[in-house]
Amino acid sequence: MLAAQRLRAGAAPPRRCLRRAPLRVRAVAAPIVPQPGECPLFQDREGKIIPAMCADYGFRSGSGRLYQESYGEVPKDVWQLAKDNFRHEFVQMRRSTRYPPTDLVPPSNPIAKALYAASGAVASGFGSLDKALEEAKVLAPLEPPPTLSALETKEFKQIRATLDTLQLDAADVTAVEQRRIAAAGGDMQSPLWVKLPFYALCWVLDVVYDKKPIEKFWVLETVARIPYFAYISILHLYESLGFWRAGAELRKIHFAEEWNEMHHLQIMESLGGDRAWFDRFVAEHAAILYYWVLILFYLVSPKMAYNFMERVEHHAADTYTAFLERNASTLATIPPPLVALHYYYSDDLYLFDEFQTGSRHTAPRRPRCETLLDVFNNIRDDENEHVKTMIACQESTIAKDIAASQQRPSPK
Ligand SMILES: [Fe+2]
Ligand SMILES: [Fe+2]
Repeated sequence: MLAAQRLRAGAAPPRRCLRRAPLRVRAVAAPIVPQPGECPLFQDREGKIIPAMCADYGFRSGSGRLYQESYGEVPKDVWQLAKDNFRHEFVQMRRSTRYPPTDLVPPSNPIAKALYAASGAVASGFGSLDKALEEAKVLAPLEPPPTLSALETKEFKQIRATLDTLQLDAADVTAVEQRRIAAAGGDMQSPLWVKLPFYALCWVLDVVYDKKPIEKFWVLETVARIPYFAYISILHLYESLGFWRAGAELRKIHFAEEWNEMHHLQIMESLGGDRAWFDRFVAEHAAILYYWVLILFYLVSPKMAYNFMERVEHHAADTYTAFLERNASTLATIPPPLVALHYYYSDDLYLFDEFQTGSRHTAPRRPRCETLLDVFNNIRDDENEHVKTMIACQESTIAKDIAASQQRPSPK
């Protein structure tokens, strides 16, 4: 008898209709705000509590960064922002000459060694000049860098000391790169005008950031997101001029890629990659120049702009692979920074699936994030996803990948 006939006949509904589905309580992924003196915790989507890194080693630690104080606020006008930034950085610049960091590992590369010695001499000269100007009352008295509270010092020093033992050798990166090229049956093809800026970028990073892996990753991530800004700018321009309106979905993918790179950058900041005034000055100004170079590339040949970026993304993935091979056991002992937990474990993984265009036929990635080892594994995997997207953009298969996302299986 059908259910409707049974009801008309006044029969009781079948027993299974009375049975309720088991109650499922789903955890809300969120940070657990610590009490003073406690380390932060994060509750993941399944309700598991993950201890996060106690300290944030970044220059902008505490405010002015994602998920921290002032997050989401509207900026002040450009003059006020420039003035505030100049005042802040001017003090940092003076401190960098008078109170240079004592925990830097000297490089081993001969060119890097010479640059290290020369920059030390220049900084010391500027330090003497700064002191003389202060004594002549031209400059305001300079306060030494602030000291941390007793608990912060203990936690801070413990993890800082471990982070300082992390190693990255340019020769390891070259070995990983050669292994990848051999496995692929040869290197990708690029014209000389694409190869030259790429090799220049790699050379600068290898020489200037020899023995400074976290600083190197921070600079790499600062420049890694710039091409996506450039591509978005040109796609906007074409849309506004009415030249090309089919690029809206592509623009969304590039924004998702930039959003991903921005989280990589913030992870490196929380590990202290932006502590040195010199690194911030060089990377942030180079990024502006790099933006205009990429604008030109994309105007002349979008295919070659993507080709260039494929090289950069391969280099990023190779660098993280070499770093992971050398430091896996150390990384496994360090908790993940809070920003990484926000990004990989939030309920709303905002645009996390959108940038992975090359994997739209498979179930979306939901990676583990319980240690710093997981964080670096995830970043390497993200970089490999960027490579796939850059290849699809050159081969014009990106439209098929976008269409495939409509029939994508549910998350694992
Ligand atoms: Fe990245
Ligand atoms: Fe990338």
